[in-house]
Amino acid sequence: MNDPDYPTVPLLFERVDIEESRQRVRAFRDELRRRRTVRDFSSDPVPDDVIDTAIEAAGTAPSGANRQPWRFVVVRDAETKRRIREAAESEEREFYARRATAEWLADLAPLGTDWRKPFLEEAPVLIVVFRLDYEPESGSDGREHHHKNYYVPESVGIAVGLLLAALHRAGLATLTHTPSPMGFLGEVLGRPRHERAYVLLPVGYPATGARVPDIRKKTLDEIRVVV
Ligand SMILES: Cc1cc2nc3c(=O)[nH]c(=O)nc-3n(C[C@H](O)[C@H](O)[C@H](O)COP(=O)(O)O)c2cc1C
Repeated sequence: MNDPDYPTVPLLFERVDIEESRQRVRAFRDELRRRRTVRDFSSDPVPDDVIDTAIEAAGTAPSGANRQPWRFVVVRDAETKRRIREAAESEEREFYARRATAEWLADLAPLGTDWRKPFLEEAPVLIVVFRLDYEPESGSDGREHHHKNYYVPESVGIAVGLLLAALHRAGLATLTHTPSPMGFLGEVLGRPRHERAYVLLPVGYPATGARVPDIRKKTLDEIRVVV
């Protein structure tokens, strides 16, 4: 088990008693229940270090073979946000007018979304998450080859989940946004070819009086099966 070529370290693990365990997980669930996708942001600034710490939290995620196939691009520049909004709105106009199926549009109706994306300029920060399906490396022959990553969507999805939870914990509001398609993000942000946009997260504080759709989450009985 312990290969001397690959060192190990003692596991840091705090064993808590059952009552403590119960309290902690309930408190965590209740806190997560207060997270909502926000689509109306104030322009109040958010400190850099809070965003960076949340990204560090996301970076603790498990990943296939620990390849950590993600990149988090933080956008604050007004002109860059404007270009992202412009490109996103042009894709989304097409999506709402032609690409979305009738069923998809019906599912979106309760959320009140449409092609307009003012939050892309209003939110003080956009975090654009990229997935890295491979990374270019130079081999021993000096030629570049593509080092493959594994279980990329699963790994990046978990990291984004942790990021959303960390930002929520920091008292910030987020929107999980997937303009369809997202290819323009790599171009606008000057990312290399091996980085593919995965999700776009406007982050900030809700606008005064912000409202959210009155939707419900499935109950435990609807989502859990015991075998
Ligand atoms: C992968 C993914 C993509 C999403 N894309 C969008 C989007 O493009 N625009 C949007 O307004 N909301 C988007 N959402 C937010 C969902 O509509 C929202 O999470 C859902 O309605 C539940 O609401 P809640 O987050 O407040 O619990 C997305 C969420 C996920 C997980």
